[in-house]
Amino acid sequence: MTAPPATRLVRAPSRFPGEVTLRLSSRDGWRRLSYVTELSRTHGDLVELAMPWATVVVVSHPDDIRDVLVTHGRSMHKGRALELAKALLGEGLLTSEGEFHLRQRRLAQPAFHRQRIGAYAEAMGRATAAVRDRWRDGAAVDIHAEMMELTLTIVAATLFGADVSGDSAEVSEALDAAFRAVSLGFAAGPLGMALFKLPLPSTRRFTRAKDALDAIIYRIIAERRRDGRDRGDLLSMLLSAQDDEGDGSGMTDRQLRDEVITLFLAGHETTANALAFAWLLLARHPDAAASLHAEVDRVLGDRVPTLDDLAAMPYTRAVVAETMRLYPPAYIVGRRAAAPVTVAGQPFPARTIFVVSQWVTHRDPRWWPEPEAFRPERWFDEAAAAARPKFAYFPFGGGTRICIGEQFAWMEAMLCLAMLARRWRVEVPGPDPALQPIITMRPKGGLPAVLRRR
Ligand code: HEM
Repeated sequence: MTAPPATRLVRAPSRFPGEVTLRLSSRDGWRRLSYVTELSRTHGDLVELAMPWATVVVVSHPDDIRDVLVTHGRSMHKGRALELAKALLGEGLLTSEGEFHLRQRRLAQPAFHRQRIGAYAEAMGRATAAVRDRWRDGAAVDIHAEMMELTLTIVAATLFGADVSGDSAEVSEALDAAFRAVSLGFAAGPLGMALFKLPLPSTRRFTRAKDALDAIIYRIIAERRRDGRDRGDLLSMLLSAQDDEGDGSGMTDRQLRDEVITLFLAGHETTANALAFAWLLLARHPDAAASLHAEVDRVLGDRVPTLDDLAAMPYTRAVVAETMRLYPPAYIVGRRAAAPVTVAGQPFPARTIFVVSQWVTHRDPRWWPEPEAFRPERWFDEAAAAARPKFAYFPFGGGTRICIGEQFAWMEAMLCLAMLARRWRVEVPGPDPALQPIITMRPKGGLPAVLRRR
């Protein structure tokens, strides 16, 4: 078999000494992302950025993205950006590496099996119904904040179960404070991450929030261990998980704490952003909104959708898919080679940093005709789908680190959107929001909207 042709490696031009470093270190996440996009569009699928302390390679062809995420997945570690997250997440699924990560992944996987996820639909439906019933016709809301609150309630309810709503509320509040502190560090870019290590008031606020959170989570874990019942929630699954392929043991309290906080973080803002942008796009495209309304009216009636209903809602799925194409909640993924690797037919030494960006590839006209256009219908074009390389669309990443919550997220996003759209339209009277890519891609300053009862 002949090897595929190598992608040409182009070095990013520098108009003045330090330009690359300066632009990659910008405090403004949108500027950093625009720079990466511009490099890829102007210089091709493999662009090398030399910095004094590291070489970064932007990889944009779907086949080469597969090299980074899948083929060499095991030889790659996550980038430095996650070090700050470790202060909060410890060694959870998102931040751990190597054998330890694989073991945690094996232990957590059963909690995300199809039957389990189906059972979470009820909690999702209950939380969404509460929002649907609370909304008032003509009310002005921040639809992004509304979606954040909804997905936080859902992740709390699916982790801790509905019968401990006191715990859920307490954890959500403590987490919110800790997330805010971490986000501020990320928002300030590389400098912010260094500052985060100093004993500043913001760091002290973070430590206080984290201590409060830990105390609550360890208390819940202790209660659950004493009680021992399977309550049908995610935490029960994690508590009962045993590593049959390893030494048969389960997770320590510390591991449980790290996974619980990781699931909270990974599992709520991403879906909230997808939902907020879906409302924006539907507000801008009344035809698409009408098709969505027709589908949910026909399929749902006034029931809470089940996992099986989702198969009967292809248009709802296409709206979510198209939203995540245009506004991928995880917009960039970084990897550092732990050993020499061949990517795109080129050899790279250990420690090379690879960057792949959903934002860049999801808007590449080679795979997506009229890439800027919101067209849910494109997801019904089977010939185009067959012709497209797999990694032209990768909102959930790929390989060993692929999102463990992918099915959970599809169900949640579709269910929330369908149930709310059954009764509500969302108008976005102002201009399109500026984008704020920090940990995830979110609308800067929220998304002011007006609710209209259908
Ligand atoms: C639209 C919603 C979501 C998107 C776009 C998304 C995206 C992603 C992506 C791209 C990764 C891989 C990051 C990397 O390779 O460095 C990831 C990992 C992860 N996600 Fe999600 N995610 C979503 C929802 C969720 C939900 C609902 C949960 C849990 C309930 C979750 C839990 C996780 C975890 C634990 C990881 C780390 C997996 C590992 O490394 O083994 N995510 N997610």
